Amino acid sequence: MAEDRSVETKIPRHVAIIMDGNGRWAKNHRLPRLSGHEAGRKSVKKVVQAAIAHGVRYLTLYAFSVENWQRPREEVQGLMGLLRLVLREELAEMGREGVRLRAIGRLQDLPEAVRAELETAMEKTRGNTKLDLILALSYGSRVEIIEAVKEISKEVKAGRLDPETIDEKTVSGHLYTRDLPDPDLLIRTSGEMRISNFMLWQISYAEIHVTPVLWPDFGKEQFAEALADYARRERRFGGI
Ligand code: IPE
Ligand code: IPE
Ligand code: MG
Repeated sequence: MAEDRSVETKIPRHVAIIMDGNGRWAKNHRLPRLSGHEAGRKSVKKVVQAAIAHGVRYLTLYAFSVENWQRPREEVQGLMGLLRLVLREELAEMGREGVRLRAIGRLQDLPEAVRAELETAMEKTRGNTKLDLILALSYGSRVEIIEAVKEISKEVKAGRLDPETIDEKTVSGHLYTRDLPDPDLLIRTSGEMRISNFMLWQISYAEIHVTPVLWPDFGKEQFAEALADYARRERRFGGI
């Protein structure tokens, strides 16, 4: 039906994903947790390709939260090692696919070797315009807001900013996401119905899609399903 086709053309500009369930996937397969994270790497590749194919312009992936530092040392180290490897090994392909790599979060917390790899990848892909792939690393939304409040306060104190003029733009403009549009669609895998300190400010009007599928089992089909779900939604932004 023609009506259905028009629905399919409602593509979110910015999709953000809370990639969850790697540990449970590993457990189901009687594997160590790190194998779950390694398996999740394939899903990242599939989703990046799917996002490009569907014409999504921004894709943010929640890869490591500020709270995730509390996990056992071996898991944190394993994740950091994996991240470094992925950044190195996927750089060429990101270049070919027109992906610009970006990152949000407390990047200063990352081990030096990971940061160096990240800087290289961001620098080398800076001119790409097909898809902005934003990795949320050592990311916490509350700490992001706190940092913004500090910056804004300093500007007020220095007399550069009149407190009466502070509006949504001022706050948005001091977050890590200052030059990104807000997510239109937020996906969480593994069935958990929570936000886990992710983009609290930015998702105020995002459509939310929760799937029971664990992240390592999430691929093109599940991504397309999430987009189809989004296309059926009626976004009102408080209007009627
Ligand atoms: C998500 O998978 C990846 C990270 C948080 C780094 P989990 O490791 O949280 O997997 P579960 O929730 O234990 O299954
Ligand atoms: C959220 O997953 C963080 C990432 C996906 C990186 P968690 O597994 O850390 O979240 P909780 O602990 O279930 O809320
Ligand atoms: Mg989890």
